[in-house]
Amino acid sequence: MYGPTANGSGANRPAAKVTVPEIRARKGGPPIAMITAYDFTMARLLDEGGADILLVGDSLGMVVQGHSTTLPVTVEDICYHGRAVARGARRAHVVGDMPFMSFQVSAAQALENAGKLMKEGGFESVKLEGGEEVAEHVRRIVAAGIPVMGHVGLTPQSVHAMGGFKVQGKGDDADRVLSDARALEEAGCYAIVLEAIPPDLAEEVTASVQVPTIGIGAGKGCDGQVLVCYDLLGMYRDLKPKFAKRFAEAGDVIVGAVRAYVDEVQTRSFPGPEHSFKPNNTQARRSVPRTPERDVIDPDEIPPHWQTH
Ligand code: KIV
Repeated sequence: MYGPTANGSGANRPAAKVTVPEIRARKGGPPIAMITAYDFTMARLLDEGGADILLVGDSLGMVVQGHSTTLPVTVEDICYHGRAVARGARRAHVVGDMPFMSFQVSAAQALENAGKLMKEGGFESVKLEGGEEVAEHVRRIVAAGIPVMGHVGLTPQSVHAMGGFKVQGKGDDADRVLSDARALEEAGCYAIVLEAIPPDLAEEVTASVQVPTIGIGAGKGCDGQVLVCYDLLGMYRDLKPKFAKRFAEAGDVIVGAVRAYVDEVQTRSFPGPEHSFKPNNTQARRSVPRTPERDVIDPDEIPPHWQTH
């Protein structure tokens, strides 16, 4: 069974972490569900929903920071979000994306920054974009004991070279995607993301490598799928890529909830007595001497995340 309770029979028993060998063993087996995550609360929810892998993607440059590309994202950004996601992921494996110019310079630079992601970001593996040209980088990182996920096809860090976010691997270009995937497998990647390529090419790549492929805009023939969490939930409404199925319209839910809140604040119907602490009874309070106990708010009324101890 592959789900949030897979490793614990009791609901309260923490599920064991999904490991790299387990992900590798899912080749041709039950499809892998990967989702991006950028903060603790979302990581908790995605983990509870049964995601196998949470990716702190450099897509955060667009969906969290509001840039038009992923290029401005730094290693520090990925580590900051990684620490938050790692605290929320009880079962899901947590992967950190290597951002633009954190690995392209040399294999040594790639190794150093992959190490930084593992030490400072709380990650269990790293992901990097590119094919044959990064195979040596992958080899060096893997040799240091850091698992690497590859990423071929549409590689958003090369958006300007590609002339936009465009489908890759069409026509003769299919051979390039195929040989890139093979080079990554040979270099030691434990899984490979296939982004925005024709579905028949994705099937061909999936059949020609022994490690799982995880598709995004690559059809159903991959060993798993990945989506950006805000796309999946209908919260990032600036762009609507064809492949980004919305499994909820949480954006509408949020806007509706905020409208209701604003309305209740403006009409003073919120907060009601059920959302307020016990009245202090000012008259009675004035007539009795102050005691330290009386000034303490009942801790049961305070949400745990407000408590500092
Ligand atoms: O940065 C990201 O979110 C990604 C996924 C879309 C695969 O690389």
